[in-house]
Amino acid sequence: MYIFIMTLKENIQNLLQQVKELSANDEKELEALRIKYLSKKGVITDLMKDFRNVSGDQKREIGISINNLKTEVFNKINEIREKLQNKSQDEEKVSLDLTRTAYPIPLGTRHPLSLVKNEIIDIFTRLGFCLADGPEVEDDLHVFTKMNFAADHPARDMQDTFFVETNPNDVAKNIILRSHTSSVQARVMETTQPPIRVICPGRVYRNETITARAHCFFHQIEGLYVDEQVSFTDLKQVLLLFAQEMFGKETKIRLRPSYFPFTEPSAEMDISCDICGGKGCSFCKNTGWVEILGCGMVHPNVLQACGIDSNKYKGYAFGLGIERIANLKYKISDLRLFSENDKRFLDEFTSAN
Ligand code: PHE
Repeated sequence: MYIFIMTLKENIQNLLQQVKELSANDEKELEALRIKYLSKKGVITDLMKDFRNVSGDQKREIGISINNLKTEVFNKINEIREKLQNKSQDEEKVSLDLTRTAYPIPLGTRHPLSLVKNEIIDIFTRLGFCLADGPEVEDDLHVFTKMNFAADHPARDMQDTFFVETNPNDVAKNIILRSHTSSVQARVMETTQPPIRVICPGRVYRNETITARAHCFFHQIEGLYVDEQVSFTDLKQVLLLFAQEMFGKETKIRLRPSYFPFTEPSAEMDISCDICGGKGCSFCKNTGWVEILGCGMVHPNVLQACGIDSNKYKGYAFGLGIERIANLKYKISDLRLFSENDKRFLDEFTSAN
């Protein structure tokens, strides 16, 4: 009996020592420890079995030390569990990027007309043109009178132009929505002496029924160059360069005589159809050419009306529709798509930003 008690006591002492040094690297190892010490077939249960054989006078002391051991095991296992939990939280903290936004913010897209406008601006600013701006609600003076429109020109008619305010005594004082960006030419020339080299992008309005091919507002870019020696050849060269930058090096241009009150001589420019490569298709109506802009040498009357000496200075001007260029570039068949804000249409230009 004595030997039995001594070995039991020693056993408990050894186990106590062992328990103090317990450790586990993960939940699995911890569970193995729990089973080893606390399960039905575990170390403590074995000790309890031995305890049954302990004689009366020793029961109290041995009982206390077994209970002690049990508490130690409990505490140790809890301590290890807590450590493991803290460790995994620390790992989570390390992988937490506090600089990230809470959720992805979807980026918008640029409107196709802005894309085309920016591309055109980019080409002309590289050629030395500056940007100029003017009001959309304009007076007749700048839209028509200074631009050498005859008093009875049909553009001055309500059928063609939107009127905001009419002045029966003086048509030049009529307030209208500008029908072309040429009004900005007048505003620039009024305030600046040559050399002038500007481009004026902006929205214009015409009293048209809205269809797939016409709209009551659209966008233009006007170009104006005024200096002492400006020739039609300069104009042609700049336009050729523009066409090749915009539509590719193979692009050809063609100038056809035309008429505008504010330019003399005037022309309309076509480019070789880039859909069929000039062979003829439905887009170019089998001609191999598509019209993209109007141009000409600034009429001396316009220079004079804006306070520029037409004996000393000459100039060229050109105006193009941004929708028209966008149609050519992106093959958009319905003009109305540009102003309907249909997200499905706008999202198609995501990659072009
Ligand atoms: N203003 C003309 C239009 O709206 C275009 C143009 C501009 C033509 C400058 C010649 C010179 O059609």
